[in-house]
Amino acid sequence: MITIGIDYYPEHWDRALWEEDAARMARAGAHVVRIAEFAWSRMEPEEGRFDFAWLDEAIAVLYRHGLRVILGTPTNCAPLWLYQDHPETVQWGRDGRPTALGIRGHRCIYSPVFRRYAGRIVEEMARRYAGRPEVFAWQLDNELESNHCTCPACTEGFRSFLKEKYGDLDTLNRTWGSQVWSGEVSRWDQITPLLGPENDTGWYNPAWMLDYERFAAACTADYVRFQSEIIRRYDPHAVITTNSCFCANLPDFHQEFAALDVAAYDNYPPIVLPEDPEALTSNAFALDFIRSFKQRNFWILEQLGGPMGCWGPISPAMEPGMLEGYALQAVAHGADLLSFFRWRTAATGAEMFCHGLLDHSNASNRRLAELEVLCRRLARMPELDRTDVVSQVALLYSAEQEFAFKNQPQSAGFAYWTQLRLFHDGCMNLGVNVDILPESASLEGYRVVLVPTHFITNPDVVARLEAFARAGGTVVVTNRSGVKDQNGNCILGQPLPTLFGALCGCHVTEYDAIGPARQTLTLPSGETCAITSWCDLLETDTAEPWAWYTGRFYAGTPAITKNHFGAGTAYYVGTVGEKALYRALLLEIFREQGIPALPSLPRGVEVTERSGPGGRYRFLFNDTLHTQTFPLDGARLKLRPLEVKIQTGEGDWL
Ligand code: GLA
Ligand code: ZN
Repeated sequence: MITIGIDYYPEHWDRALWEEDAARMARAGAHVVRIAEFAWSRMEPEEGRFDFAWLDEAIAVLYRHGLRVILGTPTNCAPLWLYQDHPETVQWGRDGRPTALGIRGHRCIYSPVFRRYAGRIVEEMARRYAGRPEVFAWQLDNELESNHCTCPACTEGFRSFLKEKYGDLDTLNRTWGSQVWSGEVSRWDQITPLLGPENDTGWYNPAWMLDYERFAAACTADYVRFQSEIIRRYDPHAVITTNSCFCANLPDFHQEFAALDVAAYDNYPPIVLPEDPEALTSNAFALDFIRSFKQRNFWILEQLGGPMGCWGPISPAMEPGMLEGYALQAVAHGADLLSFFRWRTAATGAEMFCHGLLDHSNASNRRLAELEVLCRRLARMPELDRTDVVSQVALLYSAEQEFAFKNQPQSAGFAYWTQLRLFHDGCMNLGVNVDILPESASLEGYRVVLVPTHFITNPDVVARLEAFARAGGTVVVTNRSGVKDQNGNCILGQPLPTLFGALCGCHVTEYDAIGPARQTLTLPSGETCAITSWCDLLETDTAEPWAWYTGRFYAGTPAITKNHFGAGTAYYVGTVGEKALYRALLLEIFREQGIPALPSLPRGVEVTERSGPGGRYRFLFNDTLHTQTFPLDGARLKLRPLEVKIQTGEGDWL
């Protein structure tokens, strides 16, 4: 059964409301309630004095109504006394100064002093609640970012990380190539986190920055492990996760979730959809990305439950069907638990206009009614959680590429994510399931592997892709692959795509970083397609051209090539296209590989399948505000705006 949850902050409300709230949640169809994150000042009002009576009572009230809890550790929000009495616990910003208090998340997760206090509150909670029947799972902290803190402890930590990695400064200087601009480090204490103003990163040594990003990501992973180990000491069977989001400083999620049991995400898809479905960027990308953290089904710990607001003006109201549609879209991509943010809109504090299911009036409303419909619908699919998203197509991702690309943008308007999303969108538009995979993952069972921008080049990955193609698979490699070695320095002495040359059977004679300018290329069908950002001018070795540039001094030069490699194929895409390019390319590849695709799907209609011992379920979601009609399996299907239809393997509609 798919688990339905509600995010609830009992400490925000008068106790007189708890009982009725719990009864209404249970009546709506919820199974679990996520509580306690952020409530440290209520659990430890002063240093060493703990008060869990209120939490005991809240848990008891919920449990009386059949609701179990996902317990949050409150460490995102340390109480003010901690910051005041132990200023070493405060995070420092890019400006090299302690952050101004007054919002949330001010703690330095690396600081040993903070770890002492965080460890203690987590331990108090674990001692009290771990293993109890009321506890369904644990959530650690909240929306953790990569640890970009410049405090003295973090600075020292970065130095230790480098000492461990390089041993001595000679090796470090050689690896970093730091003779450029007299950047040679002669004493360890010259090393700092190198975080100046955001737009200054282009002036720093990229090799130094890459190591810093690795250190910062490792801190976050270590922090999560640290908290989880405390809980596991009290309950080895505890189910532990943390709620991730697409934050400014993305951690290495695969590393972060290694110590956790299930991946989780805060899912806030766009409330305002573009008029033109062509302009839609599907939220499905985020969902498939989260599924990649553990390469299995995941949870949503905050699911869009009302209009957003608070850090900006209030968003428009959610369209009818949106709450249910987005929830089922998440389920379609592998969510086995959805906890809605939040029960009632806060009446105090900064988020008083970030709407929950209920408004301040506390009256039942359209959103709650929609949640009830969703719960009744999911109750008719009790076996759904015994299915997975099974894919024959993989999209490789690595945090390293994100780190390196972010610090050194390659062309105006061109991010690592752009290409990941474009390839993902191509699969979605053809109704083909796709798994996003960490680079280290096994490629067994896949037919197609998409490799956008393998910038920091890992020779092991190249070798595994060669073996995959040799055995009959199709690999697609793009521009800005093979550019750098694993230290973040450029690979010297061979034409791009360097290590990918043999696999792709082509080389780059010159490149043109065209930024936001637009050009076109000719597809094998003779049609043209718009391109932007980047043009690799290709010369084929063993490959054949697949698409050609039409403009500038390189009109007629290959832009995309196709190479037979062993029993398989490798495409090299030297540019960044409009969505239609990926659709055309992937359609050809899917045909070659015998992967069933749905080329007649209108844009914005998503078809995803879950299958396994629990049966087969095909989800059809209209992620637009228009009614869409299209042919499917020889019939015509109609979907209202934001409607989800679910078809079982037996052909029944649920
Ligand atoms: C994030 C946080 C929540 C809340 C929501 C509001 O996801 O985790 O505490 O602030 O945003 O949108
Ligand atoms: Zn710090």
